[in-house]
Amino acid sequence: MVARKLKPSRTISPSRVAAQCLSRVLETRDEITHGHAARVGALAARLAGLLGLPAKRCEAIGRAALMHDIGKLVIPLEIIQRPFPLSQEEWGIIQTHSRHGYTILSGTGDPDLELAAEIALHHHERLDGSGYPDGLKGHDISLPNRITAICDVYDALRQNRPYRSGMSHRDAMRVIFTGDHRTTPGQFDPDVLSAFQGISGEVDAYYTANADEKLHGHATMVAPLDRILKASW
Ligand SMILES: [Fe+2]
Ligand SMILES: [Fe+2]
Repeated sequence: MVARKLKPSRTISPSRVAAQCLSRVLETRDEITHGHAARVGALAARLAGLLGLPAKRCEAIGRAALMHDIGKLVIPLEIIQRPFPLSQEEWGIIQTHSRHGYTILSGTGDPDLELAAEIALHHHERLDGSGYPDGLKGHDISLPNRITAICDVYDALRQNRPYRSGMSHRDAMRVIFTGDHRTTPGQFDPDVLSAFQGISGEVDAYYTANADEKLHGHATMVAPLDRILKASW
C-alpha cells in the first residue's frame, strides 16, 4: 500500500491548546466562572497593548489571564456560589484557588503556561500588600498580574452572581477609582489604572456585548482575542 502523504498541519502551540481545553473544562463546570475568565483574558490583552507591550506578549497575557481562576476547579461549587458573608473557613478555602491554579499550570517548561501559572498564583495580590496568597507589594507583582488584577475586579463587579446583581459600568468604575468596603484604588498600579480609565467606553461596550446573558450557554463565543488585539471590539 502506498503511504498517503499527509498535508502539513498548522502548528498550534501547546499553550494555546491548553488554554482552549482548560477553558472548556471551566465552561462545562461553571459557566459563570468561564464567562468571567474569558472576558478578563480579552481585557487583559487589550490593556497590555495599550501599555506598549508587543502583540505576541499581549496575546500570551490574554491567554494566560483566561486561566487565572482555573484553580477554582478544585473548590466545591457550593462554596464558590454561596452568598456572602462567607465564614472565615469558607473564605480561606476560596483563597486556595490561587495556589491550586499554580499547581495545575506550572512545571511544564512552556513559557506561556509558566506565565499562566504565575498569573493564577498572583492575580489577587494588591499593590499595597494587602492581597493574597503572598502579600506581595508594588512591582514585586509582575506587570501581567497588575494588568489582570484590575480586569478581574472590574468584571467581577459587573457580573450577576447567584447571590447579588451586577453593577452598572459607572458604579463599577466608581468602586475601582474611589473604593468601597472591599476595594481600594491603592491596590492597583496607577499606570494600569490610568490606561484602564482611558478605554472606559470600550470596556463598557465590550462587557455589554459579551455579558453572560448574551452568551446563553455558549461562553466560548466571547469575542476572540485575535479580534480584540486588532482593537475592533
Ligand atoms: Fe481569582
Ligand atoms: Fe477572577
